Amino acid sequence: MAKALGIDIGGTGIKAAVVDTGTGELVSERLKLPTPVGGTPEDIVKTVVRLLDDLGGVEDAVPMGVCFPAIVRNGRTMSAANVSKKWIGLEAEKMFEHALGRDIHFVNDADAAGYAEVRYGAARGVSGLVVLTTLGTGIGSALIYDDTLIPNSELGHLQMRGKDAEKRASFAAKERGRLSWRAWAGRLQEYYTYLESLFSPDLFIVGGGVSKSHEEFLPLLHLQTAIVPAVHRNNAGILGAAALAAPVPPASPAPTFETSAR
Ligand code: BGC
Repeated sequence: MAKALGIDIGGTGIKAAVVDTGTGELVSERLKLPTPVGGTPEDIVKTVVRLLDDLGGVEDAVPMGVCFPAIVRNGRTMSAANVSKKWIGLEAEKMFEHALGRDIHFVNDADAAGYAEVRYGAARGVSGLVVLTTLGTGIGSALIYDDTLIPNSELGHLQMRGKDAEKRASFAAKERGRLSWRAWAGRLQEYYTYLESLFSPDLFIVGGGVSKSHEEFLPLLHLQTAIVPAVHRNNAGILGAAALAAPVPPASPAPTFETSAR
């Protein structure tokens, strides 16, 4: 069995588990600790080290993927919407590798969730453009075209009514404003209609913890694009981070070409 460890760092919780990257099943217990208040690099790194200890030490040969709620470019975190601003510009991947004493694969959290849906969920085998959004503390997004992930799309920061869309339409915005499902769906309608007009996607996938209540709000949306809940919900970040860290199994044998010598 090919195994990899996935760690999902979010605005409110940090989760970890070992994944069978062939099937996308969790093969260890799933541990969760709250994201430290303030979300500073030192505190988050300490929490990740603790989670790994709590998992009982995972062999170094097991690849490890970590996903994080920020733009990630060449191992650096380039934004910080729901964590400390100290992350901006930081060599985060190196920092985690130093603290954990092992190599990691480091990606944006919504990109990890999108990849999990491509490998093991609702985007599997879907051709064309899939737009996955995670509705949580913020809004994360992943663009997937014919199974290929286009990273760092950050569609939660599109401007709507003079504000970042995530400030109006994330699940946290619903809770902050004590919005009914219907009132929140009104905001989501506006958001997804905007995404539709920009991207003409073939499928929307809605992830984040609230997608377990999809029956409360997805039927209230009227879009031209099919919109479905993510299959993996809250585990998508763990699965995607693990899968991205593991070597991809070849889909089919590489073609061989005969050359004819003249
Ligand atoms: C961040 C994204 C992240 C999303 C979900 C946004 O505020 O900018 O990078 O993917 O929240 O966590």
